[in-house]
Amino acid sequence: MPRTFLFNYIIPTALGFVGGALAVHYFAQTPKKRITVDILSAASKQKWKGRSILSVKDISREDLDELFEVADQMDEIVQKQGTCDLCSDSVLTAIFYEPSTRTRCSFEAAFQRLGGKVVSIADARSQSSVKKGETIEDTIRCLQTYSDVIAMRHPQKGSAKQAASVADVPILNGGDGPGEHPTQALLDCYTIYRHCGEVDGKTITLVGDLKYGRTVHSLAVLLTRFKDVTINCVSPPSLAMPDEFLEFVGKFPGITIKEYTTLDTVLPSSDVVYMTRIQKERFPNVEDYEKVNGYFILCKKTIDDHGKKGMKIMHPLPRVNEIATDVDDLEEAVYFDEMRCGMLIRMALFCCVLGKC
Ligand code: CP
Repeated sequence: MPRTFLFNYIIPTALGFVGGALAVHYFAQTPKKRITVDILSAASKQKWKGRSILSVKDISREDLDELFEVADQMDEIVQKQGTCDLCSDSVLTAIFYEPSTRTRCSFEAAFQRLGGKVVSIADARSQSSVKKGETIEDTIRCLQTYSDVIAMRHPQKGSAKQAASVADVPILNGGDGPGEHPTQALLDCYTIYRHCGEVDGKTITLVGDLKYGRTVHSLAVLLTRFKDVTINCVSPPSLAMPDEFLEFVGKFPGITIKEYTTLDTVLPSSDVVYMTRIQKERFPNVEDYEKVNGYFILCKKTIDDHGKKGMKIMHPLPRVNEIATDVDDLEEAVYFDEMRCGMLIRMALFCCVLGKC
C-alpha cells in the first residue's frame, strides 16, 4: 500500500471511527443535564447540613416548608430527566434489621435518582455481623467509614438515637420498633400538601392500630406543626393511641385530638382518612391479635355512603385487609402516589443533609 494512501486516508479514517466511538461512549456515560438546586438560604443550609433525622419532635414548620419546596423541585427533576448528579460524589448505606419494601427501596431509589451510590444491607440480622453479636454502635462506626449518610431500621425503640450518638454522618431513622418513623410522617404530610393543597385547617382521621403503629405516632406529632388541624383517632379500645401522644398533641393550641371506636361518625367530616394495618408482629400473643383482626375494613360502599367529597384515603402500606381492593381505583385513593411522594421527600432529605441544595 502506498505510504501517502495510508497516511492520507486509512489512518485518518480509523482515527475518526475511534474518536466517534469514544465520543458516543463519553456522552452515554455523562448525565443528561448537569443541574444545581439552590433553594435554601445560607442559614438554612447550615441548619440542615450534617443533620440526623431521628424524631419528628426535632422538625419545625420552617423545616417542613423547606423540605416540601425541595421535594417539589425533585419531582420536576424526576419528571424531566429521571436522574441527576446532585449526589454523585456520595455513598448511602441502608441497613435494615427489620423487613421493609417501601422505606428501604425508596431511600435507595431516591439516592440513585440523585446519582449517588448505595451499599445495601436488607436483612442485617441474618446477612451481617450482627448475627455474630456486633453492637449497633460498632456496626455504625464501621459503616460510616464507607458512607456519607446512613438510613437504618431497627426493632428497638431508641436505636436510631443510639446509632447517631456514635455517628459522624447523618443517620436517617427508617423506623425504630414501636417508637418513630419520622421520614414516613414527612412523606405523609407532603402527600396531604400535594393532594389537599395544604395541611393547615384539615381534619385527619387515623384508623386502626394506633397503639403499636409508629407511623401514626410520628404523624400525630408532626401534624402539630400546622394550624387548625383536627386529628380523629379511631381504633379498637385495646389499640388506642397511647396517652403520651394524646397528651403531647393536646397541648398545642389550635390542634384538636379526639378518640373514637367507630369510623362512620367521623367519615363525613374527614379530609383525609389514614388507614393502618393491625401489627400482628407486635402483639404478645396471637389470640389478642385475632380479637381485633378485621375490626375496620374500608370499602367503596362505605366511602360512597359516608365519605366527604374530595376526601383522600392514605395508608403507609403494607395493607392486609383494612382497605378493600375495590377502593384502589377511586379518585379518593392516594396510597400508591403516597409512595412516590416518599421517594421525592427522601430525595429532598438527602439533598438537605448533604448540603446539595
Ligand atoms: N411504610 C413502610 O414503612 O413500609 P415498609 O415497612 O415496607 O418499609
